[in-house]
Amino acid sequence: MCGIVGYVGHSDGRVNAGHNALDVVLEGLRRLEYRGYDSAGIAVVADGTISSRKKSGKLSNLITELDTRPLPESLTGIGHTRWATHGGPTDQNAHPHLSDGGKLALIHNGIIENFAELKLELQGKGVTFESETDTEVAAALLGDIYRNQLGGDVTNGGLTRAMQLACQRLEGAFTLLAVHADQPDVVVAARRNSPLVVGLGDGENFLGSDVSGFIDYTRRAVELGQDQIVTITADSVEITDFYGAPAEGKEYKVDWDPASAEKGGFPSFMEKEIHDQPDAVRQTLLGRSDIHGKLTLDELRVDPELLKHVNKIIVLACGTSAYAGQVAKYAIEHWCRIPTEVELSHEFRYRDPIVDENTLIVSISQSGETMDTLMAVRYAKEQGAKTVSICNTNGSTIPRESDAVLYTHAGPEIAVASTKAFLAQITAAYLLGLYLAQLRGNKFQGEIKDILADLGKIPAKVQHILDNEAQIKELGRSMADAKSVLFLGRHVGFPVAMEGALKLKELAYIHAEGFAAGELKHGPIALIEEGQPVFVVVPSPRGRDSLHAKVVSNIQEVRARGARTIVIAEEGDEAVKAYAEHVFYIPETPTLLAPLLATVPLQIFALALASAKGYDVDQPRNLAKSVTVE
Ligand code: G6P
Repeated sequence: MCGIVGYVGHSDGRVNAGHNALDVVLEGLRRLEYRGYDSAGIAVVADGTISSRKKSGKLSNLITELDTRPLPESLTGIGHTRWATHGGPTDQNAHPHLSDGGKLALIHNGIIENFAELKLELQGKGVTFESETDTEVAAALLGDIYRNQLGGDVTNGGLTRAMQLACQRLEGAFTLLAVHADQPDVVVAARRNSPLVVGLGDGENFLGSDVSGFIDYTRRAVELGQDQIVTITADSVEITDFYGAPAEGKEYKVDWDPASAEKGGFPSFMEKEIHDQPDAVRQTLLGRSDIHGKLTLDELRVDPELLKHVNKIIVLACGTSAYAGQVAKYAIEHWCRIPTEVELSHEFRYRDPIVDENTLIVSISQSGETMDTLMAVRYAKEQGAKTVSICNTNGSTIPRESDAVLYTHAGPEIAVASTKAFLAQITAAYLLGLYLAQLRGNKFQGEIKDILADLGKIPAKVQHILDNEAQIKELGRSMADAKSVLFLGRHVGFPVAMEGALKLKELAYIHAEGFAAGELKHGPIALIEEGQPVFVVVPSPRGRDSLHAKVVSNIQEVRARGARTIVIAEEGDEAVKAYAEHVFYIPETPTLLAPLLATVPLQIFALALASAKGYDVDQPRNLAKSVTVE
């Protein structure tokens, strides 16, 4: 939610030094645009003054503006891409916001909860405001402290000291970046409950909401802790807490390549990421078991004794990640016999949940920054629960604040609607489930080895679906005029149906709903009318035969009422042909692993339908990838 970039370079001619701040910041914003794209803005410090440009709409609008009204060359700059919270997406509300007579520029990600009282206080001092944002209040506060409390004197701690004092007064969640004309070679930043990382260069330093903000320039990053201030120059990175006490960050190396965050020849990130899925699953499985099929989740680092005594698992997540959790529940309960609940993070802590030291909290988050999930994890920790994070983003806040982390290795996911992270999350949650079963002796080692072997075959099977995507793409294109699409599934197919519906809502903005197939007759069947498209995720006819028969009955029920049925079924399931207008076959796999395959045609369908409507599938309207507000 909002992307932030900061840069300070050096002009002494060293290797890598002295990039033009505008280029660095724009490149960072381009990579961070998935975090918000309502408006964008940039400020640079040059010739003793701040110059800034900002524009509503996507980053391309700002670039057009910069072509018409270029900014001067500079070595210091900050940039922002916005997902609106306070105030609509207008030019005026876009960041940066200026204060101290235009000498200070500030950008912000998050929500300042006490902005109204601060605004009144500042207005009382004669400050006027041009926007409806909380950010402008933070800018004004910082400017007021710098000018009136510190006397505008850089020897008095300057912008860093002003930021510390300002942060002591701010409530809520924020990442703030500021530059001041009096200190042309400095960017000062602060973070509370919002993401911020430092990039370490050679004769230049960077700030970003995440590492993609500077990945083109350096792979060395520093994690910041909660309530910290960082001051970067070309040669230095200094960290303190909000009261000025020195603090340290943790340095790490970014292990993905910038090329993996490019489209790689696909028309959209989303299409590329759908095609990345075999690799996302493969990488997530890699190195997690030995040749005897024994899981070795060394990174988990939770005392095995504690895990043995877990008597309840609560999975916390939002959006697509919550559907991954719902899929995992079936497998974990089946393999480990531990009662497992899946709860939307934002609902969890408001219902007085029963959580104690024998509860294992498993949070699932692609970004590792979703505020709802972070807050739920913190709440659970306070109650004494053990917390494990399943996350795709190295060094992000949720894994950092959890007792243990199991990273998914899906690589950077840029398209706002999640695809490859979903498959990787299910894979990781399955590894966790199998690990618990191994630890607690619920399954024989041979059984675990067999399931791991089946998981190992998933990447090739996903690839098979992708190699045969033409038919489902064609159907998606042909249904561009659909007003509503329903999705039905049972057992693990139920969360798959909900994920299929979510993809369609997110990308194509049409009404879509996922139902448990058995629930249909209890109400939703009233929605069925002549021609209503209904996707049905059919379980394998092998094994749980009764489930297959029941879903086939459900198909007949909707067909009898005029529905147009589109069926995802297992190869060889000839029986369903009689009940379906379209059948898409997926390779044979054990029932619990089927979501890793059945989801893929639904993703391709949503992508094709939305593309046929001419929509931007990477950046759907109103959404943001990383939701860092509650
Ligand atoms: C947002 C995104 C979704 C995502 C959800 C959870 O709503 O648009 O695609 O599933 O957040 O995000 P997380 O990063 O916690 O998995």
